[in-house]
Amino acid sequence: MEVVIKENYQEMSKLAASMIAEVVRKKPRAVLGLATGSTPLGTYQELIRMHKEQGLDFSQVVTFNLDEYIGLPPEHDQSYHYFMQENLFKHINIPPGNIHLPPGMDEDLVAACERYEQMIRDAGGIDIQLLGIGANGHIAFNEPGSSLGSRTRVKALDKKTIEDNTRFFEHIDDVPKFAITMGIGTIMDSRRVVMLANKANKAHAIAITVEGPVTALVPATIVQLHPHATIIVDQDAASELKRAYEHTPRDLTEAIAYIRRQKQSS
Ligand code: GLP
Repeated sequence: MEVVIKENYQEMSKLAASMIAEVVRKKPRAVLGLATGSTPLGTYQELIRMHKEQGLDFSQVVTFNLDEYIGLPPEHDQSYHYFMQENLFKHINIPPGNIHLPPGMDEDLVAACERYEQMIRDAGGIDIQLLGIGANGHIAFNEPGSSLGSRTRVKALDKKTIEDNTRFFEHIDDVPKFAITMGIGTIMDSRRVVMLANKANKAHAIAITVEGPVTALVPATIVQLHPHATIIVDQDAASELKRAYEHTPRDLTEAIAYIRRQKQSS
């Protein structure tokens, strides 16, 4: 697992966007796994900038979002459908038919979850999955105690998550209590995982995720078992990490460049 500590939110977002852009440039039909929340907003702004200024092309890209609240129609301003439309999709050239979010209004939720899994498989699997992290260590809406092998399904939201989400609604009673979420097993099937965290309120969750034991009580710890996971954090979110991560090479290219520099200087 690669841990990259960036100076600030902007640098964290730029690195995440460049990783996604690299996948899209290499594979125009890339399948992106996307996340909502305040954390990935900067990444989306950077991708929009790359699209507008550098022509980053999303015309063949396919996306699958992690989760959606149950009971909020797509046009509700707190739905994740709306969030994604406003903060990314309407600013880039992705065809609407290539966009997928779990259907939170489908009355046959069990069938809808199975269909979502099938659509991901039919698209060839997720090439790169962007992840945020909840302050309680959840990923998507896989709350503490979620099966580490779970697939897309309905989950009741944790009390802490409902409290955290209250700020977006007029009243706590308006906050959805259920969501459809990709499972932890679904997320782990992605070829690459990029987890982002900024701000001090994520420091504890990040410390446990990176340095604690893998446990269903902190679903994010599962990324330790992913063969290609990168965790990008700002200084505040890194503040409870005990080990030093400054020298982690970002990828193979950097390691090879390092060997070359060493050879030249010897
Ligand atoms: C929600 C989402 C998660 C997200 C989390 C953190 O619970 N379902 O996918 O990671 O919020 O949100 P934020 O980035 O706003 O801290």
